[in-house]
Amino acid sequence: MFKYTQYNDKRGETCQWPSHMRLSRIVIMVLVILILTPLFTHFYLSNIERNVGSITHDSHSHADLPDEFNGMSDSDLRVSVEELLRIKGSVLSELRDMEFKRQKLLAEIQSYMKSIEELKQELAHQQTNLNKLKISVEQAQVAQREALEQNTPDLAPPKRLIPQEVMEELKVPSKKQSRICRMFSCFDHSRCSLTSGFPVYLYEPDKFTILHKGWDVDGFLKTTLKQALGYNPHLTNDPKEACIYLVLIGEALRNMEDVNSNLTNQFPSINSTALRKLKYWGGDGRNHVLLNLSRRDLTVKTGDIFQTLDTGRAIIVQSTFTYESYRPGFDLIVTPVLGPPGGDVWQECSSMIPARRKYLLSFQGEMKSVNNEPIKRSELDAFILEHLRKLLQTGTSDKFLFEFECSLANDDNGNMGAQDWALCGTDSSRKAILKESTFALIFAPNSEFISTSLLQARLYEALRSGAVPVILGGDQIRLAYHEVIQWRRVAIFLPRTRITELHFLLRTIPDEDVLLMRRQCRLVWEKYVASVQSTLDTVIAVLRDRLNIPPLPADTVTASSVFNETFQPLYVTTMGEGEQEESLGPIEPPYDSPSYRRNFSLILTQGHELWNDWGDPFRLYPALPSDPWLPSDAKFLGSGRGFRPIGQGQGGAGKEFSEALGGNSPREQFTVLLLTYEREQVLLDSIARLRGLPYLHSVVVVWNSPRLPSAELKWPDIGAPVHVVNAARNSLNNRFLPLDNLKTEAILSVDDDAHLRHDEILFGFRVWREHRDRIVGFPGRYHAWDINTQNSWLYNSNYSCELSMVLTGAAFLHRHYLHLYWKWLPQAIRDKVDEYMNCEDIAMNFLVSHITRQPPVKVTSRWTFRCLGCPQSLSEDDTHFQERHKCINFFSQVFGYTPLLNTQYRADSILFKTRIPHDKQKCFKFI
Ligand SMILES: *[C@@H]1O[C@H](CO)[C@@H](O)[C@H](O)[C@H]1NC(C)=O
Ligand SMILES: *[C@@H]1O[C@H](CO)[C@@H](O)[C@H](O)[C@H]1NC(C)=O
Ligand SMILES: *[C@@H]1O[C@H](CO)[C@@H](O)[C@H](O)[C@H]1NC(C)=O
Ligand SMILES: *[C@@H]1O[C@H](CO)[C@@H](O)[C@H](O)[C@H]1NC(C)=O
Ligand SMILES: *[C@@H]1O[C@H](CO)[C@@H](O)[C@H](O)[C@H]1NC(C)=O
Ligand SMILES: *[C@@H]1O[C@H](CO)[C@@H](O)[C@H](O)[C@H]1NC(C)=O
Repeated sequence: MFKYTQYNDKRGETCQWPSHMRLSRIVIMVLVILILTPLFTHFYLSNIERNVGSITHDSHSHADLPDEFNGMSDSDLRVSVEELLRIKGSVLSELRDMEFKRQKLLAEIQSYMKSIEELKQELAHQQTNLNKLKISVEQAQVAQREALEQNTPDLAPPKRLIPQEVMEELKVPSKKQSRICRMFSCFDHSRCSLTSGFPVYLYEPDKFTILHKGWDVDGFLKTTLKQALGYNPHLTNDPKEACIYLVLIGEALRNMEDVNSNLTNQFPSINSTALRKLKYWGGDGRNHVLLNLSRRDLTVKTGDIFQTLDTGRAIIVQSTFTYESYRPGFDLIVTPVLGPPGGDVWQECSSMIPARRKYLLSFQGEMKSVNNEPIKRSELDAFILEHLRKLLQTGTSDKFLFEFECSLANDDNGNMGAQDWALCGTDSSRKAILKESTFALIFAPNSEFISTSLLQARLYEALRSGAVPVILGGDQIRLAYHEVIQWRRVAIFLPRTRITELHFLLRTIPDEDVLLMRRQCRLVWEKYVASVQSTLDTVIAVLRDRLNIPPLPADTVTASSVFNETFQPLYVTTMGEGEQEESLGPIEPPYDSPSYRRNFSLILTQGHELWNDWGDPFRLYPALPSDPWLPSDAKFLGSGRGFRPIGQGQGGAGKEFSEALGGNSPREQFTVLLLTYEREQVLLDSIARLRGLPYLHSVVVVWNSPRLPSAELKWPDIGAPVHVVNAARNSLNNRFLPLDNLKTEAILSVDDDAHLRHDEILFGFRVWREHRDRIVGFPGRYHAWDINTQNSWLYNSNYSCELSMVLTGAAFLHRHYLHLYWKWLPQAIRDKVDEYMNCEDIAMNFLVSHITRQPPVKVTSRWTFRCLGCPQSLSEDDTHFQERHKCINFFSQVFGYTPLLNTQYRADSILFKTRIPHDKQKCFKFI
């Protein structure tokens, strides 16, 4: 029999509650018994007591016997006394019985009270659940309304538009026309649709030679170019669909096998017949890109080869251009390819620290004459040299190194150079000097040139050694890829007439700026200049960037499940101990973070940052930590989709807070990413604790052991999907695999034995949403200067008031960093992680601090995070710490500096420890 009664909860909302009545009946009955029994007993007993008391008393004193006994005989009296005694006995035993019953009843009452207490708790629990459900339903309704109201459906991209034909023959433009080529007049945009993906075709360098007899393209370049392009995702083998066609024409080297060569062609030149005969030239060379990369020969030949040649509508890519030949916005200036084909280049670089080096400024070079003609110097040139020589003798503490005549001859320089400062010495001798120079002086070439290979080569060497380039005559020249790279952040450009102010200017630059510029040198050098691979990727990316075609999406790692298709893992529902009596937010079905929304606007709005700061201009990512926020009024006026403002915008304390995400970003969820190795029960317990966690999208477990999970394992059913992913090999680097089943921007990286409460997790999530580019988490650590050796760092996990790392054993971070971990970090760092089976979390802290120049964010008072009583993980012993000291020092060496920054700040929820009125709730009960 169920009865429904109206029940009022705290918020004054009514709700139905069954079976409550039965309970209250029991209570009333018990109360009745409780109250009536003692009353009744007392009355009865006191009656008897009175009777019995009077009788026994009387038996002792005959004289005072009441009248009714006076007439009795002794035997009668005895009988009646005995009778009375008997009655007394039976009453006493009855009393005992009753006392016993009373005790029993009391016990029963107590047990009832206990179950009342329990039921009350159960009630509260159900109440919380009900609240949770209600919030969830409300959220689902909002989501549904949003879906219905949505008048801008997610754009389906148009079909990839790709040309089906090679170019048709067109009338050959006159030489004059090709001289004034610009993108709008000479480039065929119809072959490069926005959605084409920018396919690039390469003419096989061995098959198509377009140099005149006796000359050949450098063999090293030919092979590495092919190899490097093979790694570039834009390369296509189908000339029909290509947007641009690459032709490798240099660097030209004399072909020693050709016997007659020396007679005919003293200089390399292009066979224009061969050029026009290129298979897809189409009459005028539209969308062709002629690559003239210099590698060994850095001298400037008098006269430009292309000047006498008709290159049609082709784009020319090289390091040397005269003002006359360079077509701004059309031709592309590149650096010479002086580095290795690809791979790690950090060993080439010098340490960035200390900011001040032995020499303030250095220069090594020798003016060569053209064909033994006497060197012509303008008055200004003479004055400049004079002034620099004087600097060497100034009495300041600043040291200079200027060498205007080579002490070490350089064999590389022929004597055919145009009037320019040839390099002195060898690569390594120059490197040794640059490593000791804070600034490196570079002279702009003869004013006829806008760029020369020599200038760009000097730039390359200065960047590599972290000597900040100071370009005298910098207003005359253009550096490589200047349409995308902000060179003013890297080098100092000075008009030549400022020579007298040079020393003053350099002295005003504080250490901070020297190091900022040096860091920028390193960034530009590593990303765009250092190797053949980076040069080619950059050339292609700049051309693509011109057309505003987005890059191709970044590669993800395919997540292959450890379970085969036929196998169904066992799921069990367990009551997670992590579940709390606090309503923390709605339980919603998985909701992927929106992705690739800025394909075409990112390059426009954040192009500079993409190339010069945090970005990766070579690949497109689903979302970036630096994606911009809307102004706070926009989400109420016009752009509110996805936002869940607190109290619908009115705000509110704990209750409203727990119902909506609020903040500056639209609603989202997070993914728990776990790395595990052969600790199945620990893992299962950890997963079970996530049951009922609001905003949880899914759990991804990276199974780092070759031994697959046993088929009998009972996986906890936590209400969110659990993916168990097979790792190719056992490596701690797998913790940061950019798996394709990570569908949210927010990743909660946790150790398999991490023990976090739900409120802690959700608070961390909310804080991360405000620091999307940082690591936000619980266990703080720092790097301490070793005051004994004075030259290295120590890893420190002691309690401290300053920290510089937050361990990824329990931290939120943006999915983007998983890509960068595999793409940006030098392989040497991942190798070190594998060697020690340690330090992957330190590496991630280095990476994020390097990119953001910000410390991590520590949340809540939690300092440790492992569960007590769990089997020890491989960490806490001494070698573990020794390795971590070594890691910090090694990583600093690879980065060239220590990117970690200190912080003395920790995030707690706003009303934590605030006195608030009784009718208000805190944001979280405990944190
Ligand atoms: C943006 O790029 C991604 C990756 O190439 C693609 O999946 C998505 O459909 C694109 N979106 C639009 C609107 O073009
Ligand atoms: C120029 O190229 C054409 C076609 O490939 C070839 O027949 C001719 O011999 C070349 N001329 C010279 C001077 O190398
Ligand atoms: C040209 O090559 C021949 C041998 O093939 C050689 O004898 C001659 O000296 C060379 N001429 C020049 C100018 O280098
Ligand atoms: C290539 O560049 C060099 C300078 O780096 C220049 O001398 C030469 O004329 C250019 N062209 C060819 C076809 O080598
Ligand atoms: C799938 O996996 C289960 C358990 O791991 C195994 O018993 C079964 O043979 C597998 N099936 C196939 C088709 O591989
Ligand atoms: C950290 O604490 C340990 C043990 O308490 C101690 O041996 C060590 O010297 C401390 N390290 C620093 C840098 O204070």
